[in-house]
Amino acid sequence: MNVLLLGSGGRESAIAWKTSQSTLVDNLFIAPGNGGTSAYGTNVALNPLNFEEVEAFVEANDIEMLIVGNEDPLVAGITDYMAEHRPQLLVVGPSREGARLEGSKEFAKEFMMRHSIPTARYKAFTADTLADGLAFLEQLQPPYVLKADGLAAGKGVLIEPTLEAAKASLREMLGGKFGKSSATVVIEEFLSGIECSVFVLTDGHGGYRLLPVAKDYKRVGEADTGLNTGGMGSVSPVAFADEAFMKKVEERIIRPTVEGLIKDGIDYRGFIFFGLIKVGDEPMVIEYNVRMGDPETESVMLRIESDLARLMAAAAAGDLGTLPMEISPKAAATVMLVSGGYPEAYEKGHEISGLDAQLGCIPFHAGTKESEGRILTSGGRVIALSAMGDSLADALEKCYAAATTVDFAKKYFRRDIGRDVMALEK
Ligand code: AMP
Ligand code: GLY
Repeated sequence: MNVLLLGSGGRESAIAWKTSQSTLVDNLFIAPGNGGTSAYGTNVALNPLNFEEVEAFVEANDIEMLIVGNEDPLVAGITDYMAEHRPQLLVVGPSREGARLEGSKEFAKEFMMRHSIPTARYKAFTADTLADGLAFLEQLQPPYVLKADGLAAGKGVLIEPTLEAAKASLREMLGGKFGKSSATVVIEEFLSGIECSVFVLTDGHGGYRLLPVAKDYKRVGEADTGLNTGGMGSVSPVAFADEAFMKKVEERIIRPTVEGLIKDGIDYRGFIFFGLIKVGDEPMVIEYNVRMGDPETESVMLRIESDLARLMAAAAAGDLGTLPMEISPKAAATVMLVSGGYPEAYEKGHEISGLDAQLGCIPFHAGTKESEGRILTSGGRVIALSAMGDSLADALEKCYAAATTVDFAKKYFRRDIGRDVMALEK
């Protein structure tokens, strides 16, 4: 079949890499893709938010499966649009209603309450209920967690150390700090623990498969300091997400979510990303996303042994049947090379060298573009170096060797990816 993948980041590079290996796939197109995705298929200059343009391409190129890499087209309703205009097209990604699990924190919280899924206690406020919000903050203990309800490019969560700062932030957010996204603000109890990312692929009829569990490193600085980023690296597996923990995750979180979507009449065929925190020994949900994680995907794809395109097609068709999701027992790691200054101001357009060397890992392109045969930086997160090994230490050694070989002006990367997980390995 012909497949179209929407997106342009490291996640889409890894999905393209994996999809291109499928015996089911004849032609893979990536829109818009980046400087590296053309190694796995054909880049097409489409705007994923222009559904008519995407539809015209689908029609002209006999596309049978559309994989939606990032959340924006899903939240904007691309799945519903295609269901209406191209009912035969297999779409990997939920309906607009399902995408609200990521598109609205309040919707996600209400969903979890309705289906008794463990999460932090919360209340939601708007400008009209500011006074109640300020009073609610006074009942909580520091630190204070404030979340913009809508999509805010990963920047919409503030964790404030003092009551004063929390009150000021609530006022600013409701006053338009994140535009429409923070017209509603969710205030919730602070949870203390270690986080991990759990992914399932579901067919909307109760069938789901668990993907490898991963952990990402969100802060820009070593030892989890500094500003939040899109993610500076990832590892899989995650030793603390052991069998006992994962059993609780399946019983209390995954199954109630998959079944809750059906009970609520929400059409959801695609990936569900559970951002979890382990509080003591108990899993709780920090957030849902309606797509794979980036840079978790770059590690996760390496460990999937089954034909993922076949699984995605079955999920999109509504029946995973008995198709297995086989996972390698080996470890995978990803170290993200970023542009100095990221996540604040950074430079673009620097030439990247060393990509053709024997790296011992896969350089998944994230923020790159090709220009006259050269590969240039074009984003904050530039290259995700991903490797497998018999242990996490082995995999990381390969990533870090490659991190010195692949080079560009003002390159920066974290040198402590995976260290916390290895410290907890038994
Ligand atoms: P989110 O965008 O909801 O994933 O939040 C971004 C980050 O903020 C999470 O990955 C956590 O590190 C942190 N965070 C969010 N909610 C909480 C909470 N209730 N308690 C502690 N940390 C949180
Ligand atoms: N790595 C976290 C995310 O993709 O949202």
